[in-house]
Amino acid sequence: MRAVSASTLLARLVTLTGVVALDNGLAVTPQLGWNTWNSFACSLNETVILNAAQRIVDLGFKDLGYEYIVLDDCWSAGRNSSGYLIANATKFPSGIDGLASKIHALGLKVGIYSSAGTLTCARYSGSLGYEEKDAELWASWEIDYLKYDNCYNQGEEGTPKLSYDRYNAMGQALNKTGRPILYSMCNWGSDGPWNFASTIANSWRTSGDLLNTWDRDDANCPCAELDGLDCKTPGFRCSVLNVLNKAVYYVSKAFPGAWNDLDMLQVGNGGLSDQESIAHFSLWAAFKSPLLMTNVMTKIDAQTLSILQNPAVLAISQDPMGSSVSRIWRHPVADVDANGYGEIQLFSGNLMGGDQVVVLLNGGTQAREMNATLEDIFWESGVAGTASQVQQAWDVYDVWANRMDNETANAIINGTAVPAGSRFNATARGGAPRVYSQPPVVGDRWLMGSKVASVQPRGTVTARVAAHGVALLRLRAQSSKKNEL
Ligand SMILES: *[C@@H]1O[C@H](CO)[C@@H](O)[C@H](O)[C@H]1NC(C)=O
Ligand SMILES: *[C@@H]1O[C@H](CO)[C@@H](O)[C@H](O)[C@H]1NC(C)=O
Ligand SMILES: *[C@@H]1O[C@H](CO)[C@@H](O)[C@H](O)[C@H]1NC(C)=O
Ligand SMILES: *[C@@H]1O[C@H](CO)[C@@H](O)[C@H](O)[C@H]1NC(C)=O
Ligand SMILES: *[C@@H]1O[C@H](CO)[C@@H](O)[C@H](O)[C@H]1NC(C)=O
Ligand SMILES: *[C@@H]1O[C@H](CO)[C@@H](O)[C@H](O)[C@H]1NC(C)=O
Ligand SMILES: *[C@@H]1O[C@H](CO)[C@@H](O)[C@H](O)[C@H]1NC(C)=O
Ligand SMILES: *[C@@H]1O[C@H](CO)[C@@H](O)[C@H](O)[C@H]1NC(C)=O
Repeated sequence: MRAVSASTLLARLVTLTGVVALDNGLAVTPQLGWNTWNSFACSLNETVILNAAQRIVDLGFKDLGYEYIVLDDCWSAGRNSSGYLIANATKFPSGIDGLASKIHALGLKVGIYSSAGTLTCARYSGSLGYEEKDAELWASWEIDYLKYDNCYNQGEEGTPKLSYDRYNAMGQALNKTGRPILYSMCNWGSDGPWNFASTIANSWRTSGDLLNTWDRDDANCPCAELDGLDCKTPGFRCSVLNVLNKAVYYVSKAFPGAWNDLDMLQVGNGGLSDQESIAHFSLWAAFKSPLLMTNVMTKIDAQTLSILQNPAVLAISQDPMGSSVSRIWRHPVADVDANGYGEIQLFSGNLMGGDQVVVLLNGGTQAREMNATLEDIFWESGVAGTASQVQQAWDVYDVWANRMDNETANAIINGTAVPAGSRFNATARGGAPRVYSQPPVVGDRWLMGSKVASVQPRGTVTARVAAHGVALLRLRAQSSKKNEL
């Protein structure tokens, strides 16, 4: 089954020609940062946030482009008698404005959280009916980002218009402040935000909260696919594969400044194996989802650091074309896991300068050789082998080939100085995100990966893929001018 239809291609064309993005100049590439929720929930405070922000600078995450430090729920303590939100003074002795200026001093940006309802999900004051007051206050605190949830919405959803109106109220309020504030909608995919949110928000969640699991079934998050189950329930406690298998239907709806958000990263939070973490991070990058880390930065381990700091993966996330991969095929396999899941999938998408990104996903329990024909890889550029790219010879680069080794990662974590000019010193590599704005040159293995194969015209790309893992590949035409250093 080909996932891409003529109507999808048409929708993409309409996006290119007709739909206007939110005009706030932000999230031209998917936002990168860190959020408090998955690790701290309601026990966030100034100390843990500043510690995380300092680590994000010291460990080199900032150099790689991670930029936003986002406070999630539970920062507030209600409203004062004039109707303005007040911060919990025990948790935030410097106030949110004081914390914001400390985070700004580190060269990072600050995000805050509220809900388009009467209460937030943890039952603090929500912003419904208070949009202008809240936006005004956040702007006065020099906030750069808003994550806007969907709890206690008073039943004001169920049609796209009801959801649009409720979320547009905050979008208008943010705009009115005159401060560019990245607007991250979090309505869990209710009423199809991919169809109405691109003119009012910089990103919108496609489904319920991502749980720290690969493919576990959860009654709260049904409908991993269009299989006749109730697909309108946003769900919560969704697995990596569940979120992925829902998002495949909306990939053509995103474009620079307006992204599908598959939810925050669970890398480093303990529930995923190394290969599953690599697959999760690779797929979120290839889908152009915002990448918000949520691990405890002061306790990061080498494995986690070397996943989140792979610049070749970030170069795919931050590719200036902003084009998501699409699913080309999906097949069941016999080696299912204890949850009854087992499948393989091929994803493919365009990158700037004529490169192509290919993801081979192995959801089986055994490592396997996987094949993708050029005809399939370039299906969206011309069906059934009609794309001109199928007639070309390509070099295949493994984007994970140069993952940082544990010793280097531990040296960075321990604070042992990374020698100037070290291959893993992001500053020495020329800084980021500037480095992502051009297609990487072939000699730059840290952005490009390493060449592992060549494919002749009409040929097949083959990769060995670990169980519950991916091969993340960048294809470059052998004739490309980009090959000249
Ligand atoms: C507000 O919206 C207008 C019209 O879309 C846009 O030109 C302007 O840049 C926006 N301002 C901010 C601060 O987002
Ligand atoms: C901040 O939160 C952390 C983690 O919840 C806690 O251990 C610490 O005591 C808190 N610090 C302050 C000053 O409240
Ligand atoms: C403020 O935070 C402190 C420390 O976590 C907590 O004990 C208190 O209940 C909070 N106040 C409100 C109003 O939420
Ligand atoms: C309520 O908070 C706002 C914003 O911080 C402040 O300007 C105002 O003076 C406060 N009102 C009262 C009654 O404390
Ligand atoms: C991939 O192709 C190779 C030969 O080109 C073949 O031996 C292998 O069975 C194929 N694998 C799959 C999963 O189709
Ligand atoms: C890195 O460390 C992890 C656990 O700390 C281990 O599982 C993994 O094999 C190590 N990788 C290498 C390349 O040594
Ligand atoms: C980092 O610190 C740990 C704990 O002190 C130590 O065991 C390890 O050898 C250090 N690794 C490096 C590469 O410095
Ligand atoms: C990276 O190298 C630069 C010099 O090129 C140096 O100033 C900086 O401290 C190094 N960063 C780390 C994390 O070691």
